[in-house]
Amino acid sequence: MNQVLFVKANCRSLYQSVSVKLYHAFLDTYRKANPSERVIELDLYQEDLPYYNDVMLDGMAKRRQGAELSPAEKEAVDRVMRFLDPFVAADKIVFAFPMWNLTVPAVLHTYIDYVSQPGIAYRYTPEGPVGMLGNKKVALLNARGGVYSSGPASDQEMAVNWMIHNLELLGIQDIVTVIVEGHDQYPEHRERMIDQGIAAAMKTAAAF
Ligand SMILES: Cc1cc2nc3c(=O)[nH]c(=O)nc-3n(C[C@H](O)[C@H](O)[C@H](O)COP(=O)(O)O)c2cc1C
Repeated sequence: MNQVLFVKANCRSLYQSVSVKLYHAFLDTYRKANPSERVIELDLYQEDLPYYNDVMLDGMAKRRQGAELSPAEKEAVDRVMRFLDPFVAADKIVFAFPMWNLTVPAVLHTYIDYVSQPGIAYRYTPEGPVGMLGNKKVALLNARGGVYSSGPASDQEMAVNWMIHNLELLGIQDIVTVIVEGHDQYPEHRERMIDQGIAAAMKTAAAF
């Protein structure tokens, strides 16, 4: 039985948010197509994720070395592992997130800081880093108000690209994307763009 982790990095409602619409379209379709699989939902805005900090860094380094942890380090390591364990255990992961200021919301950045652990998610070699989590499939569901797939802003896109490069560092190569873009720039086409995105999310979920 596959374990599938759905990560939502958006504080807005289904009514307000395009990427939350993609999230629910994907989730509903996936559940119907795969009723026996184990689905875990993680709403990052409902979680307590302090920025990755020195206590977490020192605690995770000591954990790798098998050294004794202080009470504060143990608490910090437990917090990181609460997010890392389901990430490592998942066969498939779906992320839904908006573009904010050309990149991902800070809470998603922090989540990626937690899970990108040397010795667990990747390791260094003389030839460079080698990912250790290559056996996963990932879907990225993203909404961005402007157009970045082509044109003058295309080299400014650091949300989907940032996710892809970070997942590739962990060895994850099997990545599909569903992106709705330009709906703020072209409000007259907004409804059609969103409907097309929802249809693409459903189609991708059925084959995921
Ligand atoms: C804080 C903030 C920053 C944003 N920054 C950008 C941006 O850099 N580029 C862009 O094209 N749209 C930007 N937008 C617009 C959103 O990407 C767009 O409205 C998108 O639909 C948001 O996702 P959501 O509908 O799932 O919440 C921004 C919106 C907010 C609220």
